[in-house]
Amino acid sequence: MTSKNVAPTEGTERTYRFPRPLAGHQPTIWYGGDYNPEQWPEEVWDDDIRLMRKAKVSVVSLAIFSWARIQPGPDTWDFAWLDKVIAKLGAAGIAVDLASATASPAPWLTNLHPEILPRDARGDVVWPGARQHWRPTSPVFRTYALEMCRRMAEHYKDNPYVVSWHVSNEYGCHNFFDYSDDAQNAFRDWAKVKYGTIDAVNDAWGTDFWAQRMTSFDQIIPPKFIGEGNFMNPTKLLDYKRFSSDALKAFYEAERDTLQEITPDKPLTTNFMVSGESVVLDYDDWARQVDFVSNDHYFTPGTRHLDELAYASSLVDGMSRKKPWWLMEQSTSAVNWRTVNYRKRPGELLRDSYAHVAMGADAVCYFQWRQSAAGAEKFHSSMVPHAGEDSQVFRDVCELGEGLGKLSEAGVVGSTLAKSRVAVVFDGDSKWALEHTATPTQALQSWTEPLDWFTALLDCGVTADVVPIRGEWDSYDAVVLPTVYLLSAANAERVRTYVRNGGKVFVTYGSGISNEADHIWLGGYPGALRDVTGVRIEEFNPLGDDFPGVDAKVKLDNGAVARDWIDVISSTASTCEVLARYKADEDTGLNDVPAITLNQFGQGQAVYVGAKLGSKGIAKSIAPLLARLGLASRAGVDTDAAGADVMSVTRVAADGKTRFVFQFNRTRHNVAVQVRGTVLVSSHAVNAAGAAGESGEVTLQPAGVVIYETDAVPEK
Ligand code: GLA
Ligand code: GLA
Repeated sequence: MTSKNVAPTEGTERTYRFPRPLAGHQPTIWYGGDYNPEQWPEEVWDDDIRLMRKAKVSVVSLAIFSWARIQPGPDTWDFAWLDKVIAKLGAAGIAVDLASATASPAPWLTNLHPEILPRDARGDVVWPGARQHWRPTSPVFRTYALEMCRRMAEHYKDNPYVVSWHVSNEYGCHNFFDYSDDAQNAFRDWAKVKYGTIDAVNDAWGTDFWAQRMTSFDQIIPPKFIGEGNFMNPTKLLDYKRFSSDALKAFYEAERDTLQEITPDKPLTTNFMVSGESVVLDYDDWARQVDFVSNDHYFTPGTRHLDELAYASSLVDGMSRKKPWWLMEQSTSAVNWRTVNYRKRPGELLRDSYAHVAMGADAVCYFQWRQSAAGAEKFHSSMVPHAGEDSQVFRDVCELGEGLGKLSEAGVVGSTLAKSRVAVVFDGDSKWALEHTATPTQALQSWTEPLDWFTALLDCGVTADVVPIRGEWDSYDAVVLPTVYLLSAANAERVRTYVRNGGKVFVTYGSGISNEADHIWLGGYPGALRDVTGVRIEEFNPLGDDFPGVDAKVKLDNGAVARDWIDVISSTASTCEVLARYKADEDTGLNDVPAITLNQFGQGQAVYVGAKLGSKGIAKSIAPLLARLGLASRAGVDTDAAGADVMSVTRVAADGKTRFVFQFNRTRHNVAVQVRGTVLVSSHAVNAAGAAGESGEVTLQPAGVVIYETDAVPEK
């Protein structure tokens, strides 16, 4: 009974539904955050509501970590406090995104049933003391969690203020891997469904390597601790990640279906973590199983702040298949979980939120409303900081509420992110596979290489769309495959067909190396795409600085510099033109070796970039190519941006005509932009007020943004 629902299959897609406004209210870009009133005495609740109104907050997420309050014992239930909070919020016109309250089990439950606790790779118990200490494959935990869902749904089914369900919270954040017996049984069942026979598992996992051949499914164990310095079977590990995502998804679906049966009219979501490196689950698969996509994003400190945010958000928009989505969490300033918790610079609180809206968010929320005075997150910034109402953060929070209101009135709600001409492909499976510790270099990374391309394209004036590999990247004028290490035969064929029919593809080093089982495509790399790219690679030349006398970098004759990785391209097809070569000492064997090539394949072209060049090196290398490939710079965006200094993003209204143009300063100095329409909102922008309603020049300060509306047809 443990795992009957954990199957490696993709269920029926759900129909898109976004939370509707409260009765008597107009649709707005939802604005608010996680609200944890149980951390405060009741008199603070009234002050919360006063401040929420002041900030124009329209929604809060409630009860995410309230299990111990709602069900203080196996047979005791207490909804009174929650009823009271919701009534107060509703009376103030504030809607509730209500949690299933199942994210973290109460102490009585883990005391009573310690068998719900996960086990780590060594078999040790993962104890309570923080949160999310439960295993998704535990039938006992499932019973209790579904009972909570049922009670919550029964209790709030007719509550007019509850506009959506927030199922659990960040599944897998702390319990992605579980190595318990429940997990082991479920993994065996999962493998049975996926492979049918143990021999098929053996074939996929390559078990003749190191005498791992199995003769029955009960010989399958999770990838438990194997001793330091040893190497796990890579395909088993990859499959364990797939299984773990599926196991959590099956659990989510059980919670969802329990809620849905009782409250069919309330749309539901669960918050993803597409943010930095922390893409834990197969979110593009999960996105088919929510009514609307929601995401938690936490900023990357330093110079990549805006680019990484836009890249991650664009990927979320891709997962949502360009339907408006919900930004469930972000921080107003510092988080508390990094080694050093940098605050946001002036203007970044507003700028970040507008950037999420630009990328398709129709809700802007934070973790959390009021900064905690106690507990593990007391140093995490919030909408109401420790300093209180009289603070820059709260003034910015109020300004943002105003600004979002103006965008809503202008009709931004329900508009969608305009399609770019360039798609950067993201493949979560490749990211999982490359995390393995026995690869040519640990510097090969499937999160940062697409980000480098996104940034390089911005440097060339192009705001690309980040598109999951299951998405429609082959409907774009150009596609980037950045370290898409795993390529199934079907996906390789998709690339082939796309280029043959006139598509333009940029393929990087580390792409098309293995199939979906991580078996190498033989005959020379990139085995899956040798014909398309016209290159053949016999050996890799990783770069590093961990031994005396090894090379950390190698120059290209176009001025770019390779670090971490070079493909030794040993031959090129007759249809292939070499665009750049390495300049290195003869004894390296790299001098004059092709670094970047352009192949004519069918009606299309394939550019191959055989080294890790970083965003600057990529930009330098592709800038001269864009015009040649018919992708003149600023392709697909409104052309008012001041080149690389500005990120320009457009949302298009449902009428297909009205366009909302968002322009962001990407630099740390002032930048002038041309506004060609009616200014709706600006922040850290000079003369914007004067230009309101007019076209004209606006100076964007660092973190500055201007948003205007236009009916003009964009230049191509
Ligand atoms: C050892 C082992 C071999 C192989 C090599 C790899 O020598 O005996 O099986 O793993 O290391 O370097
Ligand atoms: C996650 C969680 C929140 C909070 C924030 C802090 O996103 O969902 O409860 O812990 O991180 O950044």
